[in-house]
Amino acid sequence: MEAHIAEWLNLLVRWIHFIVGVAWIGASFYFNWLENHLNRQAPQEKGIDGNLWAVHGGGFYHLKKFENGPDKLPEVLHWFKWEAYMTWVSGLTLLCIVYYYNAQAMMIDPSVSDISTITSVLIGIGSLVVSWVVYDQLCKSSLKQKPEVLGLLIFAFLAVLAFLLTLVLSPRAAYIHVGAAIGTIMAANVFFVIIPSQKELVKALSEGRVPDPSFGENGLLRSRHNNYLTLPVLFIMISNHYPSTYGNQYNWLVLIAVSAVGVLARHYFNIRHLRKAIWMLPTAMFGFILIVMATMPAKQKALEASDKVTTAQIMPIINQRCASCHSAKPTQPGFAAPPAGLAYDNPIDLENNADKVNTQVMQKIMPLGNLTQMTDEEREQVSLWYRSLEK
Ligand code: HEC
Repeated sequence: MEAHIAEWLNLLVRWIHFIVGVAWIGASFYFNWLENHLNRQAPQEKGIDGNLWAVHGGGFYHLKKFENGPDKLPEVLHWFKWEAYMTWVSGLTLLCIVYYYNAQAMMIDPSVSDISTITSVLIGIGSLVVSWVVYDQLCKSSLKQKPEVLGLLIFAFLAVLAFLLTLVLSPRAAYIHVGAAIGTIMAANVFFVIIPSQKELVKALSEGRVPDPSFGENGLLRSRHNNYLTLPVLFIMISNHYPSTYGNQYNWLVLIAVSAVGVLARHYFNIRHLRKAIWMLPTAMFGFILIVMATMPAKQKALEASDKVTTAQIMPIINQRCASCHSAKPTQPGFAAPPAGLAYDNPIDLENNADKVNTQVMQKIMPLGNLTQMTDEEREQVSLWYRSLEK
């Protein structure tokens, strides 16, 4: 009953997180696109910086961007902030439901480090707070005069964070916390810098004075960072489905490399209206292919007949180490149904999922948190079994 409700709660919160995240990033992509596509050619109406025509959903739209703002504030002015706040709140809730509530299994990997559940949760939450503080201080320092250097330093800081987290947390928890740290930076940017700078704009306008330019500059810098951080954060959100990423021995490096590819691709779309930089996209693609090759598992030599292991021979291992969760009726507290829909009560089901089983076991992702204490010898047996299945 409790596990059943937890599952639906998980679904509901994840669904909301996904919806508001799409709304946030969608709006941010849209305004970025708008800015880059404004028609700024003269003649423009008085006080107008640029305009744009668009057709969408059965109507024509004509948008204008003001040079300094309208003479008089409109009665209704739309702000874009709740998507950002809701994405962060739902993300944090999800982190609690999926990771902290089940910390022994989800946060800790005994083969990585032997910390207590409390420590793991404190490290998780601490990483979010520290990331924001470090990032914010970097942005407030004199480095903001050199945005490229600042950008590189922020990237380096996040890379170090990824490395450090993989030393203490389970691989998936480390990944998701880098993502959550980036998400925290992005949402805090909206809350502490971008929205206040827009408020100053509006206030100055209503008081008939020139807005303090430092607000605008800071707001722009943080929005730029948010723009570049979207691709890495989206990658991290989906990486959980791909054991070749978080399961790699150098998983932190994979995270950094894929993020760099994402940032480069984003950069291309940001600057292509300014100058030709067509090399960026193929370079990003090439980088991606390099990652695929670098993470390729070593080819193993064919098995001797005497080394072959049959499904019947590994069933006892599976029953002992996996079936408490992966069975039609799990006995592990907190599980109402077999996780990921995978039940191994039947040898056929095991064989049908041999690929996944082998990957998860050899990369030590499963058994989750090694709660059932699978030994290295047993993992070797699973690998032999997998290779025996190969035709
Ligand atoms: C303590 C519970 C638990 C145990 C024990 C456990 N698993 Fe899992 N397993 C999970 C959960 C939870 C998921 C879903 C993870 C997710 O998708 O976020 C999962 C997912 C999987 C997947 C799907 C992964 C994917 O990305 O599609 C495979 C394969 C798997 N487990 C194999 C095994 C094998 C093999 C064992 C035994 C050696 C095992 N598991 C033991 C909880 C467990």
